[in-house]
Amino acid sequence: THEPIDPVRYIANRSSGAQGTAIAQALAALGAEVVFVTGPADVPPPDGVQVVTVETAHDMLQAVEAALPVDAGVFAAAVADWRVKTASGSKIKKEKGALPVLEFAENPDILATVSQLAEGRPKLVVGFAAETDDVIAHATAKRARKRCDWIVANDVSPETGIMGGSENAVTVISEEGADAWPRMGKDEVAKRLADRIAAALS
Ligand code: CTP
Repeated sequence: THEPIDPVRYIANRSSGAQGTAIAQALAALGAEVVFVTGPADVPPPDGVQVVTVETAHDMLQAVEAALPVDAGVFAAAVADWRVKTASGSKIKKEKGALPVLEFAENPDILATVSQLAEGRPKLVVGFAAETDDVIAHATAKRARKRCDWIVANDVSPETGIMGGSENAVTVISEEGADAWPRMGKDEVAKRLADRIAAALS
């Protein structure tokens, strides 16, 4: 089912939404009209943007498509690649000697879908790559596979403290190559990225 239910237990990741929120804020500060499509996040949405709240990957894709056409699309959400095929409406009870088996179904890939739109593709599509190993190689391959213009690679290994933290160390990969930025606050990363987006569109 695509329907969100309020489960007793769920599988999640440690993304706070801080980087995407900071980017929306930075773009709005430059005068952009921003539609901020967000799943559940730890940080509140920024002021001065149109907020669309969703819960499932399916609904996020629909909300993103409804926001088109746009000049630039930035895809910073930590979308789950899979959802449980049949979420239980009631608490799954422990049964002696029987471990539960969860079956998964694949979620739509929002970035890849929008990057490959035949009609209405944003002029600039910016994806993120959350990696723990071979960050640049994996992110470079991800950019080619999904066909976005830029990919912002970050190392989310637990020891970096980046996922859920206030700082980020990113490498922006484009057709022109890889641009490694020093570690800085997520707000600062957002400002630099917003400036780079504005320059690319002008
Ligand atoms: N993304 C998306 N829809 C998904 C999964 C990811 O739009 N269902 C987007 C993310 O917002 C990000 C980019 O794809 O911009 C890469 O996400 P990431 O989690 O790094 O990669 P995955 O596609 O999940 O690939 P893998 O799990 O193999 O690293």
